[in-house]
Amino acid sequence: MRLRRAALVSSTLATCFVASAQAGPMVWASMGEDAYRLLRRSGAELERVEPYAVEIRAPQADGRIGTREETVYLMRVDEDALPRLSRDIHENLKTCAGFMVHTSRADGRQAVAGFREAAQRGVKPLVNYQIDDEAEVNPLISQVQESNIRSTIVKLSTNYKNRYYATTGGVNASNDLVTTWKALAGSRTDVTVKQFTHSWAQKSVILEIKGTTNPGKVVVIGGHLDSILSSGTSENSIAPGADDDASGVASLQEAMRVLLQSGYKPKRTLQFMAYAAEEIGLKGSQAIATDYKNNAKKVVGVLQLDMTNYQGAASDITMITDYTNSAQNTFVKNLAAHYLPELKVNEDRCGYACSDHASWTNKGYVASFPFEAPLANDNKNIHTSNDTISKSGDNANHALKFAKLALAYAVELGSDGK
Ligand code: BES
Ligand code: ZN
Repeated sequence: MRLRRAALVSSTLATCFVASAQAGPMVWASMGEDAYRLLRRSGAELERVEPYAVEIRAPQADGRIGTREETVYLMRVDEDALPRLSRDIHENLKTCAGFMVHTSRADGRQAVAGFREAAQRGVKPLVNYQIDDEAEVNPLISQVQESNIRSTIVKLSTNYKNRYYATTGGVNASNDLVTTWKALAGSRTDVTVKQFTHSWAQKSVILEIKGTTNPGKVVVIGGHLDSILSSGTSENSIAPGADDDASGVASLQEAMRVLLQSGYKPKRTLQFMAYAAEEIGLKGSQAIATDYKNNAKKVVGVLQLDMTNYQGAASDITMITDYTNSAQNTFVKNLAAHYLPELKVNEDRCGYACSDHASWTNKGYVASFPFEAPLANDNKNIHTSNDTISKSGDNANHALKFAKLALAYAVELGSDGK
């Protein structure tokens, strides 16, 4: 186990550190648990140690595929300690030095992201990604309305001063969303709306449509409800968060509305989530993903909608390739090509755990994150009081595409019996 782990880190992170006898400054380095333990034992000077959880699927002793959680550590370390670490690893772990040195923290985080990406690539999707529900999807897609999405964005971004996780606005936004979602559910007995209570004031909101034949398999579509000001957020801060992320919640709410009002009954269970406290470190989604994992809930796919209404470039949808599942990403791209052929889809990476999809990925679930623009062309007003719908032309034309995509995703995954 130990050998495999250290070897995995070193082979994935590509290079081995070349021992140097020279004295040096503090440098950035990343490594797996075993190497980190040896480094600690050597008494080396360390700063800013950041652990990153990585979920790995690999063959177990009995040959079956199992999951285990690994930690990769990124830190500043006295360069002088590295030759000894290299030696210790060779002697104790009998492998090429399982660590990597980086030029900067950003470079180190890229490496950790790449490591996680490689680990996720190995995740075998549990579901059939065949696109075979046109008869249901097409008529539903035509019911999705821009005006509804626009009005949700306007309400979320103007009814409260902010939706920060610890303010009255943040709490009220969650409670009001429950009222709105209950009204959309109407009298359907297969639908429930609940709040997920956290250790802070703002609650996450979950609407569930129970699956008819396969309710134990869950499909999750989520976005975050909270907003933030990078300059600091308190009770009276103006943080409209129209794009980040009223837009994502509005897109998923419109997909949900169409499903609910059309009387669509999924075979698998569909859950729509508005996460609390994303902006302070993905906390709401982490709490939910952890709870689901601990209760062995079978989530077969997660779609994250965070920032859907700012078209910063010619492309319509940018698939984020890190901290996401490549097989499901291909499925989502195929959904767009099939149902929304007019859209231009490309790819980019965040380079770090930039939104709630990463909470699911880190717990071993399959997640995708279709984003509004290439990262270089994203909305520069987020986390300021200027994140208003006026920056998106006072319409929800762009967010509309994501609502349609989410709808196709919900029905294609929701309609399978297995
Ligand atoms: N919506 C953003 C993430 C984002 C921003 C993705 C720009 C792509 C382009 C999200 O709400 C956010 O702000 N995330 C934080 C990280 C999180 C762990 C607190 C961020 O990006 O700093
Ligand atoms: Zn944000």
